[in-house]
Amino acid sequence: MSHTTYFLFLCVLTLSHVYIVTSSFQPYIVPIINANIEHLVAHVYSKDNDLGNKTMTVKDAFHWNFRMNLRETTSFAGECFWMDDDNTVLKKANFEVFNKDVATDCG
Ligand SMILES: *[C@@H]1O[C@H](CO)[C@@H](O)[C@H](O)[C@H]1NC(C)=O
Repeated sequence: MSHTTYFLFLCVLTLSHVYIVTSSFQPYIVPIINANIEHLVAHVYSKDNDLGNKTMTVKDAFHWNFRMNLRETTSFAGECFWMDDDNTVLKKANFEVFNKDVATDCG
C-alpha cells in the first residue's frame, strides 16, 4: 500500500468509527412539564424542527426525542407564554431547553 492509500484508508476507518460510536448513542428524550400554571402555551423549536405551540394546563406534559448531530450543535430553545383567561399573554419567558452543555450536565 502506498502512503496515500494507507492514509485514506485510516481516514475512512476513523470517520466510520466516529459515526458508529456517535449514532449508537441513546436518543435524548426531553420532557416539558407544566408544574402550576393554569393556562400555559409552550413553544419549543430548533433550527430545523418546530414542535409548535402546545397549550397546557396544570400537570400537563409532553416530550419529544431526537439524536445529537455529529458536530454536537443540536439545540432546542423554548418560549413559554403565561396566558390570561381571555387568551392574552400575561408573561413570556425564553429559555434554553437543550444544548451540548445541558446534555453534559444531565447525562
Ligand atoms: C403561539 O402562542 C403565542 C401566545 O399566544 C403567540 O403569540 C404565537 O403567535 C403563537 N405561535 C404560533 C405559531 O401560533
